[in-house]
Amino acid sequence: MNILIIGSGGRESAFAWKIAQSPQLTQLYIAPGNAGTGRYGQNVPLKVTDFDGIADFVLQHSIDMVLVGPEEPLVKGIHDYFLDRTDLRDIPVIGPQRAGAQLEGSKDFAKQFMVRHGVPTAASRSFDKATLADGLAYLETQKLPIVLKADGLAAGKGVLICTTLDEAKKELQAMLADAKFGEASSKVVIEEYLTGIELSVFVLTDGDSYKILPAAKDYKRIGEGDTGLNTGGMGSVSPVPFADNEFLDKVEERIIVPTINGLKKDGIPYKGFIFIGLMNVGGDPYVIEYNVRMGDPETESVLPRIDSDLLDLLQGVAKGDLFERSFTLSPKTAATVVLVSGGYPGNFESGKAISNVENVKDSIVFHAGTKEENGVVQTAGGRVLAVTALEDTLFDALQQATADAGRIYFEGKYFRKDIGFDLL
Ligand code: AMP
Ligand code: GLY
Repeated sequence: MNILIIGSGGRESAFAWKIAQSPQLTQLYIAPGNAGTGRYGQNVPLKVTDFDGIADFVLQHSIDMVLVGPEEPLVKGIHDYFLDRTDLRDIPVIGPQRAGAQLEGSKDFAKQFMVRHGVPTAASRSFDKATLADGLAYLETQKLPIVLKADGLAAGKGVLICTTLDEAKKELQAMLADAKFGEASSKVVIEEYLTGIELSVFVLTDGDSYKILPAAKDYKRIGEGDTGLNTGGMGSVSPVPFADNEFLDKVEERIIVPTINGLKKDGIPYKGFIFIGLMNVGGDPYVIEYNVRMGDPETESVLPRIDSDLLDLLQGVAKGDLFERSFTLSPKTAATVVLVSGGYPGNFESGKAISNVENVKDSIVFHAGTKEENGVVQTAGGRVLAVTALEDTLFDALQQATADAGRIYFEGKYFRKDIGFDLL
C-alpha cells in the first residue's frame, strides 16, 4: 500500500516510524513532514490545508490511504473534500468528516453531545455576544475558580481558568465583545472547575467497533514541577499508573461506549482517532475535552506500546472490520521527553544545528520542529525533538529518556528533567 501522512510534528514522525514497520507498506509519503520523517518515507512539500495539492499528489502517486495527523484539515473538511470528488471517493481518509470533527472544532457542540448522550463532564453553559449580559450574571452564581473556553480552535490558547469573579467577567467580556481569540471566541463555554488528575485515553474507531489504545499522561507546562506557561506538551508517559483497570473499565463503560453509540445515534460517521482528555475526580472519569486526532507528544509514548501492525488496524478502520483485526499491546512503559528551543513557548530562534542524535542508542528520537538544509539538520520550531524510551519499568523508561535527551545538542536546548517522576 502507498500511504500519505498529513502533518509535520512529533506525532506524524511517530506515525511514520510505526507505519514504516508494516509488511503491507509499499511507499510512505509525509506532507510536509520534517527532517526526521524523511528517514521513513519521502517528504512532500504541501501544506496540510492545501486540499487541491494533496488531491493531485494522491492521484499522481496512487495513494491507497491518507492518514491525517492534525485537527485543522479535519475541521476544515479534508475528509468531506475526498468524499465529494468522484475520483477520490474510494481512497480512505483516516480522520473524521467535518461533522465528527466538530467534537474538537466546537466546545459547545462537544458539550451538547456529552449532555445528550450522558457522558460525564463538568456542568456548563454557553454564551455569545448577544447573551453576554446573561453570561456575566451567570458568572455571579458560580463557584471559583471557573473555566472559560473559547468555542472554536484557538491553537491551544482558548481555555482560561479564572480565580476571581472580576477576572472572569473581564475575560468573558474580552472574548465575546472584543474577540480576544477572534472568531473562535464568538461563543464561550463557561464550565465548572474540576479538581483531579488529568490523563488521556485514545480510541481508534471505524464508527462501529473500536480499539482502546494505551492511555497516556502529558506534561503541558514549560517548567519543572508543572510551573510556568502552557506549551504544546513537554513530555508524556504510557501507561498511566493511577489509571488502573477499574478506572479504565469506568472510562469504557461511561465514556467510550456512549461516545461511539452517540455518534451513531446522531448519524455522524466517524473513522479515525478520538482523543479523550479526562479528569480523574476521586476515581471517577470526567471528560474535559475531545480531540479528533492523536495527541502530541502522547502519540510518541502510545505507538511504541502497540505491538500490532498499525497499518492493518487502519485498514480495519477504512473497511469497517476493525473488530476482526489483531490488537496486542506491549506491557512495557514508554516515557517521552521533548527537547524545545530556548525561549519557547515565547519567542525563540530557529536554524540551530542539531548534533549527537546518533549517540542515542536506547531511545527513539522523533523529530518535530526540524528541517534539513545543505545536509545539516537544524531546529525549525518550538518543539524540536521527542525522545522516547521503552523499558520494563516506569523508572527505567524515565531515566533512559531523560539521559538520552541530555545527550543531544543544539544551541538553546531545554527539556524538563522531571517528566513522569511525580508518578513513581
Ligand atoms: P483544553 O484546551 O480543553 O485541553 O484545556 C486546557 C487545560 O485546561 C486542560 O488540560 C486542563 O488542565 C484545564 N481544564 C480544562 N477544563 C477544565 C475544567 N473543567 N476543570 C479544570 N481544569 C480544566
Ligand atoms: N498534548 C496535547 C494535545 O495534543 O492536544
